[in-house]
Amino acid sequence: MEDSTLKTIGQQLSRRSWAEPWKIKMVEPIHMISREERFQAIQDAGYNTFLLRSDDVYIDLLTDSGTSAMSDRQWAGIMLGDEAYAGSRNFYNLETAIQKFYGYKHIVPTHQGRGAEHLLSQTCIKEGQFVPGNMYFTTTRIHQELAGGIFVDVIIHEAHDPTNLHPFKGNIDLEKLEALIKKEGAEKIAYISLAGTVNMAGGQPVSMENIKNLRELCDRYGIPIYLDATRMVENAYFIQQKEEGYQGKSIAEILYEFCSYTDVAWMSAKKDNLVNIGGWLAVNDYDLFDNLRNLVVVYEGLHTYGGMAGRDMEALARGIVESVQDDHVRTRVGQVQYLGGLLTNWDIPIVQPVGGHAIFLDAKGFYPHIAQDQFPAQTLTAKLYLDSGVRGMERGVVSAGRDPSTGEHRYPALELTRLAIPRRVYTQAHMDVVAEAVKFVYDSRMDTRGLKMIYEPELLRFFQARFEPIEI
Ligand code: F0G
Repeated sequence: MEDSTLKTIGQQLSRRSWAEPWKIKMVEPIHMISREERFQAIQDAGYNTFLLRSDDVYIDLLTDSGTSAMSDRQWAGIMLGDEAYAGSRNFYNLETAIQKFYGYKHIVPTHQGRGAEHLLSQTCIKEGQFVPGNMYFTTTRIHQELAGGIFVDVIIHEAHDPTNLHPFKGNIDLEKLEALIKKEGAEKIAYISLAGTVNMAGGQPVSMENIKNLRELCDRYGIPIYLDATRMVENAYFIQQKEEGYQGKSIAEILYEFCSYTDVAWMSAKKDNLVNIGGWLAVNDYDLFDNLRNLVVVYEGLHTYGGMAGRDMEALARGIVESVQDDHVRTRVGQVQYLGGLLTNWDIPIVQPVGGHAIFLDAKGFYPHIAQDQFPAQTLTAKLYLDSGVRGMERGVVSAGRDPSTGEHRYPALELTRLAIPRRVYTQAHMDVVAEAVKFVYDSRMDTRGLKMIYEPELLRFFQARFEPIEI
């Protein structure tokens, strides 16, 4: 066809579709069990989707962590694993990929993100020090607390409002942070715990402007910035789409620039980096690196494998390269936005704007008649599974746990059910099925009653807590 003819066709369409930059070579069968079986399964699981067997799940949106589909190149890399105890060639490939795309000097591998959080918290927090951050994450905060730190939330207030359309709801409130530094003294601040994007806020990004201003503030007080880079690639996409001056830049360029304003990064490679297991720490300061390297051999493994097999490090090194490709990131976040668009068109209450890795249903909007101590988000998560075999995760009062000083429930402003989308796994048709399931549950919301907790573990209770329905 002539170029000019193509152009005319293009002009006639109001928009042009785009599609995934891959095709499917291998499939994994899934099926939906009957409603009676789902009822039995959720009862057996104590109304906690973490306790379901995955065979009983139809579309699994529990997490985007370790659930990605690897590419043929990553699988080929698995066959190139050098399983030497020390100095595996795959470690050096991993080191090179992190240095190239994230820009830090020294790398310590760990078995997954919380392994890195453990080492970092033990090394960098002194008893009684404060750790300000842009909203808590469950595993991050518990490691900070176990090391004697006190987490302080300094995210902008817009982040706590699911309807607020601020484009960068992950930003740090610099005034709130400076007030804390002035009140407590800079030496009482261990470091800034900055996550991009912010999982518990709905996958919301931090702007480049905010990190630059944060750097300037922290330089004045001599406080380091530690970055949870778990979903930083997705954060870079939002900067490219929404922030002035970044439209012409690649994801890789934006990622590199953002990291350059920070001192340390830690990573759950099970998310952005497209592997089923793995994590890492990356630092510029040699002395800190040395301390972390000393500790990794105690808890994870030698400093050139940190709990990972050589083959897993190879898949990870290759996953990093794939994860920063613009067409990959557009597809990934685009799929989340597609699902968000369907739900938004049906006026279903979800966290807006739609974030990078998941849709967060606003359980308070679904169930205004269920008090927060009757666990509206836990209830909604169980209902959705029962209706359609779709598995999500509670991100509300159960996840927030109890305040260590008072022993009371922490009541977060956001009471959410998260539907996290694994990368490169489900199709648009799966998203349509999910949207319709959510709509059905929303339409029948008024008949729903809450839950009571009948078993509560002491730490990270959401993983294993059990519930039963409240009878009238
Ligand atoms: N930081 C963030 C922002 C995370 O989302 C996670 C894990 C971690 C750290 C810990 O990493 O799981 O590799 O030990 N988030 C998973 C989730 C569990 O479902 O959001 P990990």
